[in-house]
Amino acid sequence: MIEEIRDQYKAQFKGEPTLIKAPGRINLIGEHTDYNNGFVMPASVDKAMYFAIGINEEQEDIQIQALNYGTMITLNGEGDLPSWAKYFKAIVELLKERGVEVKGVNCVFGGDIPIGAGLSSSAALCCGFIYGVSNLMDLNIPRTEIALIAQAAEHKIGVNCGLMDPYAVLFGKKNQVFRLDCQDLSVEYFPLVLEDHSLVLINSKIEHELEGTPYNDRRNSCESVVKIIASKYPDVKSLRDVNMKMLLEFENEIDALDIRRVKYILEENDRVLQMMEVLKAGKLEEAGQILLRGHEGMSKEYDISLPEIDLLVELAKKEESVLGGRMMGGGFGGCTINLIENKNKAETLKNIKSQYQKSTGILPEVYDVKPGEGLQIISL
Ligand code: GLA
Repeated sequence: MIEEIRDQYKAQFKGEPTLIKAPGRINLIGEHTDYNNGFVMPASVDKAMYFAIGINEEQEDIQIQALNYGTMITLNGEGDLPSWAKYFKAIVELLKERGVEVKGVNCVFGGDIPIGAGLSSSAALCCGFIYGVSNLMDLNIPRTEIALIAQAAEHKIGVNCGLMDPYAVLFGKKNQVFRLDCQDLSVEYFPLVLEDHSLVLINSKIEHELEGTPYNDRRNSCESVVKIIASKYPDVKSLRDVNMKMLLEFENEIDALDIRRVKYILEENDRVLQMMEVLKAGKLEEAGQILLRGHEGMSKEYDISLPEIDLLVELAKKEESVLGGRMMGGGFGGCTINLIENKNKAETLKNIKSQYQKSTGILPEVYDVKPGEGLQIISL
């Protein structure tokens, strides 16, 4: 794929581009905990967004071509922009706010991260472009800062997301997952040893697009609960500072729905810590159980699943070779992540796919995923 992108660049623009690989991400456990200053456990994967980016010596325009869509745009030109271009536009504006005027840049990008599947193609897109511009213009923007700019770009577009996705894209390591503490942004890596098991994503093919979904409502619910609790406990700055006992003290003041949602967040934070322990100890059966409990919480307490996704988890649960699974990412569609024994894996996936198709009329896609290296410059 990267060769194609490089060739496309060279066919249209002068000079030798810099080539960048910005991977997608998985998350083992810890959903919706990032914007609550909690814990998450992501990894970057080998599906990626690739960029060929270089300087345009002759013009001040920013020309970008999306290989997957076959469209070329001039960012500072006239006319409506396709929806993918809004990320580039937001980034250029954010850099300008930081005193950097981006001019005269050519870029071709494309990749194999399934769009709308919950692998964070948008974070890969944002991080790849910011890194590319920083590299071209010798800005040396640190990765921690790139993550903040990528997050701000999503916020500009309307998704009030946390920092998990850009961190996963930027800080992933081969064969490792990491526990990110979204309170102090510290990272602890550890090897993902699955013995004779694999992580498999099953794509429901219901595209998740967080913009305009109740994603932001969930964040608002959490923040409103923090405000109520902080009125009595001023040290409480986020749900990270709240425990179950404290929450239940406010049972009469907080809406039952919000109590349930916050309960999910508190439990999910615990699940990340438990998952770290069981994975380090090689207790894969228990890891599977944690995934299933995570899904229960997302479906019944946090209300971010869909009947089709619940079905995928139920079908997986019935299979002997599946240790556990859950919806992955922001919710309302996308993939489930499953821990499956390699023996009988093909048969197991065949069963799940055919039964899902029978009930929904949709043929799901499956992808084996392994933690890969985070964002990097590549040479051919
Ligand atoms: C999306 C957001 C992340 C995170 C997840 C849910 O991917 O971009 O910040 O909140 O949803 O865990």
